[in-house]
Amino acid sequence: MAEDLSIAKGTKEEQYQSLIPQIQGLLTGETDLIANTANVAGALKEQFGWFWVGFYFVKKDELVLGPFQGPVACTRIRKGRGVCGTSWAENKTLIVPDVEKFPGHIACSSLSKSEIVVPVVKNNEVVAVLDVDSDELNSFDETDQKYLEQIVSLISF
Ligand code: SME
Repeated sequence: MAEDLSIAKGTKEEQYQSLIPQIQGLLTGETDLIANTANVAGALKEQFGWFWVGFYFVKKDELVLGPFQGPVACTRIRKGRGVCGTSWAENKTLIVPDVEKFPGHIACSSLSKSEIVVPVVKNNEVVAVLDVDSDELNSFDETDQKYLEQIVSLISF
């Protein structure tokens, strides 16, 4: 598979529909989790230009920072803490239109304004989360939820 991503213009829906087959291509034939999560973070960042895109992996009782694109970030997050730890504890996608209004939000950067966190479930347990941050308010909606959930389901954890 060529390593160049073709960047689509158009609606959010159209952008995801162009990106998903390319992500499938990037994942095909590669089993390494670090390589695959790194490329998914890179592909999402390149297509959408979000402020921060990355994975946190569940390790014992914490989330630990994994491959990401964007500024340096907090390395460890406790279960139930912040948006990521809450998504893990509740095993559900959280859309936060304004991070300042989310009780306990962990500000890795003051530039982050809105956020979506998607849990990755394997054998009925959350094993990681995908975290996406935007420097604008209200960046994420059910379309992002639908496609980001689909994208994480393509990765073999
Ligand atoms: N804001 C997140 C922490 C991770 S960073 O945004 C990369 C949270 O509240 O869980």
